[in-house]
Amino acid sequence: MSEPDLSGALTLTGPEACLAHYRAWAASYDSGFAEGMDYLLPAHVAAAFLAAGGGSPVLDVGAGTDLLAERLREMGQAGPMDAVDFSAEMLGRAAEKGIYRQLVQADITKPIALPRQYGGIVSSGTFTAGHVGPEAFPHLLALAWPGAQFALSVNLRVWAAQGFDRAVEALQGAGQITALQLIEVQIYGAAAAALDPDHATDRAQVVLFRAV
Ligand SMILES: C[S@@+](CC[C@H](N)C(=O)[O-])C[C@H]1O[C@@H](n2cnc3c(N)ncnc32)[C@H](O)[C@@H]1O
Repeated sequence: MSEPDLSGALTLTGPEACLAHYRAWAASYDSGFAEGMDYLLPAHVAAAFLAAGGGSPVLDVGAGTDLLAERLREMGQAGPMDAVDFSAEMLGRAAEKGIYRQLVQADITKPIALPRQYGGIVSSGTFTAGHVGPEAFPHLLALAWPGAQFALSVNLRVWAAQGFDRAVEALQGAGQITALQLIEVQIYGAAAAALDPDHATDRAQVVLFRAV
């Protein structure tokens, strides 16, 4: 079997395949993928969240090995941060670093067994091809206090193709979210061109809104 990588991650065909991929990728995710590709997305999401006013406690959605929480702490986010992810192996790597207050293993495409207790909900890299679609948004809104700040990255390859644009408009139209802002960012830095030219210039939308 070949080594797990980004191209494999973006062509996953369902939750079982996704879980198997991250089981194999967890050990080399930070040192191989994130460092090798100069993975900028967690820093962009963290900066956008804080610039929009932020909130606490924070839930990091599809938290993986904790890269977004690390960037948030470095940029001054105080207060508790929790992680939700369905991969035990990715959460295991996060646990070793000790940033999160609580690690929750759950599939975010289904209702999540947590109380409504968050002032901030953030995510980087989880809403992308082969991963999670906009069907997760209602499950996240169910965990947010009124006024909670959201900052969620959505890969531009799936933004319209998987109906994220329509889902966000529908939530706004229904009065469930407010203060919608979209910021387009580069996902990877210069080093990515040598490692994975097909994805090196990929961009994402950072979707900012507040729960009503
Ligand atoms: C590309 S990684 C991003 C990890 C981290 N946020 C980062 O930016 O490095 C995507 C993460 O989403 C998680 N994931 C994928 N589908 C999921 C689902 N249905 N429910 C919960 N987590 C999921 C994977 O296990 C993986 O850790």
